[in-house]
Amino acid sequence: MNVPLYAALWANYDKLNAETDYEEWADFLCVLFGRHSKIPVTSVLDLGCGTGSMTFALHSRGYDMTALDISPEMLSCAREKAEKQGIGDVLWLCQDMRSFELYGTVSAVVCCLDGINHLTGYRDLDRCLSLVHNYLEPGGLFVFDVNTPKKFREFYADHDYILEDEGVLCCWQNQYDDRHGICDFLLSVFEENQDGTWNRTDTLQRERCYSRKRLTQSLEKAGFSVEGIYTGFHMEAELDSAHRWYIAARRD
Ligand SMILES: C[S@@+](CC[C@H](N)C(=O)[O-])C[C@H]1O[C@@H](n2cnc3c(N)ncnc32)[C@H](O)[C@@H]1O
Repeated sequence: MNVPLYAALWANYDKLNAETDYEEWADFLCVLFGRHSKIPVTSVLDLGCGTGSMTFALHSRGYDMTALDISPEMLSCAREKAEKQGIGDVLWLCQDMRSFELYGTVSAVVCCLDGINHLTGYRDLDRCLSLVHNYLEPGGLFVFDVNTPKKFREFYADHDYILEDEGVLCCWQNQYDDRHGICDFLLSVFEENQDGTWNRTDTLQRERCYSRKRLTQSLEKAGFSVEGIYTGFHMEAELDSAHRWYIAARRD
């Protein structure tokens, strides 16, 4: 059965993503807000929020949070987590980052864990950036990260991987077309049932590899200035040898 990626993964997303340290990442975002924003950051939009890990990390640091994702499954998981933690003041929106509408502006927008690579068409990227610009207060900051060309060429490439946690196994086969900058991830998710049998769900996910030049051009065209490109929270690697770029762009 072929279903959208996050419809297959949502129940196990946090388990499979357990190594990501959102607290450290949130601290890093706060540093970037302080360093690059021209206005005090009080309200944040978490674009492609998934199961809300970054939303909660920023909420606990005092920001007024709006969180948006296209996957109803990922959002319902986030809402359930919010309820369990007694967090009632996050605005959750099931919308597409290429065509979203907010009630008002925010002072910062974040998009974490390669959400921007999910925009596989250049026009999709332009639409998204234009909306982010529209809903950001002047002087406000957009911070996002992308998987780098090096990561697509060397780590994803045509390699296969297995992610495993209790009761779940995710087999992950990649096909990377370097000429077109498109990577297909063929995922088979196996989930163990209570009676010891396993369910299998197959899904296809596509990402686009963006160069720094393309991202910078698109950001500038949308009315942003690129204030910083980072390769990590602490130790800085060379941009060309990094697997992830964290980009801070300010709305002019
Ligand atoms: C890799 S996950 C990252 C989730 C979350 N930001 C995190 O750090 O765990 C990418 C998320 O982007 C969402 N997404 C992909 N395309 C989207 C779109 N066009 N509009 C809104 N959300 C989208 C997916 O549903 C998924 O939850």
